[in-house]
Amino acid sequence: MSETVYLNGAFIPAVDARIHVSDAGFLYGYGLFETMRANEGSIFRLDRHLERLAGSAGALGIELDTGQLSPAVMETIRINDLNSARIRITVTAGTDFSPEQYRSGQQANILITARQYEPLPPEIYRRGYSAIISSMVRCSRSPASTLKTTSYLQNLLAKREALLSGVDEAIFLNEEDNVCEGSITNLFILSGNTLITPAVSCGILAGITREAVLELAGKLGIAALEAQFPAGEISEAGEAFLTNSVIGLMPLVSLGGKPVGNGKPGKITTRLASAYNSMVTNYA
Ligand SMILES: Cc1ncc(COP(=O)(O)O)c(C=O)c1O
Repeated sequence: MSETVYLNGAFIPAVDARIHVSDAGFLYGYGLFETMRANEGSIFRLDRHLERLAGSAGALGIELDTGQLSPAVMETIRINDLNSARIRITVTAGTDFSPEQYRSGQQANILITARQYEPLPPEIYRRGYSAIISSMVRCSRSPASTLKTTSYLQNLLAKREALLSGVDEAIFLNEEDNVCEGSITNLFILSGNTLITPAVSCGILAGITREAVLELAGKLGIAALEAQFPAGEISEAGEAFLTNSVIGLMPLVSLGGKPVGNGKPGKITTRLASAYNSMVTNYA
């Protein structure tokens, strides 16, 4: 079946979708995106993704009516006959954009795509991810660190750095040498009996999965906090894991060639992963 996308109010075959050559996302990476997962036709925390998108659009001065997006996303899944899907909403500052002149009321370009969700093989979750500390530094005060922008170059270069080093993920530190997040994931460590994740002020994307994990920790009676900590704390941690809407919870079992904890997915990680998976599976 050929892919159908939503573009600026219309559902059209992907092969016929056209974005103007002057699109601000294409020319300058002036745009935002959300990646979400649908399971049995329902999208995990679509409302939270749309709230994050609306807040980010406001921060970038992109006018966006998110009211149209929820039905458009659902229709994109339906029209493509998908049950289990990976959905992406891309919003750019549009075609009427000038870097030299601030203008309000510009028409955003909005694209929604949905493809079959291909889960990672279970053995990868059983084995866990290995990571390095990225050579690139995150700026805690840059909006590029806290928003999910289409200027994804630093993230992709860090991911490339990881893959070229033979590991799965690269962890960013900020200008104060505190841990931020992975190239496409948020990070949690278990220090003693406390789950710790870098605070948003460190310069991270406030992940929707991260938020769900913090809630689940509360429900399961696991102490959790958002804080600043240096990379050494990851190596000292009993357990660590990474989170992302498409990947879910992924154990982090080694950093810079040294095991994290005992080098295997930890007990609390496994408990939270199974609670998260059933939360996504039973989400309606
Ligand atoms: C840099 C970065 N951090 C964290 C995440 C995880 O966010 P979420 O849980 O909302 O998918 C992502 C997702 O792609 C990301 O790109």
